[in-house]
Amino acid sequence: MRTSFLPFCRPSISEEDIAAVGDVLRSGWITTGPKVAELEALVAQRTGAAEAIAATSGTALMQLALEAMGIGPGDEVVGPSLTWVSTPNLVELRGATNVFVDVDPETLLVGADAIDAAITPRTRLVIPVHYAGAPVDLDAVRTVCRRRGVPILEDAAHAIGTQYRGVEVGGVDTAIFSLHPIKNITSGEGGVLTTNDRALAARVRGLRFHGLAVDAHDRAQQGRSPQAQVQSPGYKQNMADMNAVLAVRQMSRLDAFIARREAIAAQYRRLLAEVEGINLLADPAWPHRHARHLIVVRVDEARCGVDRAALMDGLKARNIGTGIHFLAAHTHTWYRENRPYWTGRLPVTEWNSARICTLPCFPDMREPDVRDVVDAIKDVLAGARSVVVGGRS
Ligand SMILES: Cc1ncc(COP(=O)(O)O)c(C=O)c1O
Repeated sequence: MRTSFLPFCRPSISEEDIAAVGDVLRSGWITTGPKVAELEALVAQRTGAAEAIAATSGTALMQLALEAMGIGPGDEVVGPSLTWVSTPNLVELRGATNVFVDVDPETLLVGADAIDAAITPRTRLVIPVHYAGAPVDLDAVRTVCRRRGVPILEDAAHAIGTQYRGVEVGGVDTAIFSLHPIKNITSGEGGVLTTNDRALAARVRGLRFHGLAVDAHDRAQQGRSPQAQVQSPGYKQNMADMNAVLAVRQMSRLDAFIARREAIAAQYRRLLAEVEGINLLADPAWPHRHARHLIVVRVDEARCGVDRAALMDGLKARNIGTGIHFLAAHTHTWYRENRPYWTGRLPVTEWNSARICTLPCFPDMREPDVRDVVDAIKDVLAGARSVVVGGRS
């Protein structure tokens, strides 16, 4: 058994990353400034988007985007329930209505047909999720949304570096990336919105900083008037340079990180092929580059004799961490109590929500670590089988 704990995720932070953060701390300018501008330029360049806007989190950007798009009471927003609760929560907080769509049983991605069926005259926005770093079928979703006249806001929280048909995610539609510590690159906490819609970008930038349309760096550089007026009330969700510099450094290693994740995913695929009832997701059928953000398995108790909770406990006892991405939003207490309509209406989502488990995957993991995880899974399953056999004999 492992003697040290293997978390399901650990950010890859080099000594140079730490030194770069130290340089910002020593510089005398630690809030929004040149490093944020550099990060925004790097993400715009990488995605091909006209605009990139950094903020304190992906959630913050989702809040700003929903407000900038004018989403409010009476509006419907279509997206999966099998996502992080941040997005459905923000839709509720704006007084709008979540219209959840079920996901594909093999990839857990939302499909164009399900989106088409969910759109009504009240639909104001579709938010597809590039779950685990795999792209949704964007051409099909775009065709539906164009025909139905509904804009797309891609939840690309998992998908920095993901490509769809050779094109980087975030370069065509408006998209939001997360830079949370478990993501493929991190700024500690943070996120970046990309868009080609200049008017939307201007509204998001305004909302990001009090509605002043200037930030602290602009004022320090005296590039704009220190007496700037509120154009429209806004929030304060600007990213600090001490965060941005970390992501700036990590952007240059993004492809190397994804290559390591790909190698880890391939090793899991090989080793888990012989483990009955622990089922990896399928990759999408369309041409893509998977960012391999999460390694998700479904723990099928009917076939492996162990439920998810027992597997996770068993792995923890063997020094291996796991996660759940995600408990479907509509199964959370508030949604069950206040939006009971959805219970039982999303069968694939509910089946998976009760069985998905995220296995360790991060660039600094090595081959023996992956073997440890799979050996520990086999050990937990064998232990359960021997209990059943012992009980019967
Ligand atoms: C699918 C999805 N959307 C949105 C978010 C929100 O990102 P952040 O944590 O940066 O606010 C997350 C974060 O985990 C996520 O997984």
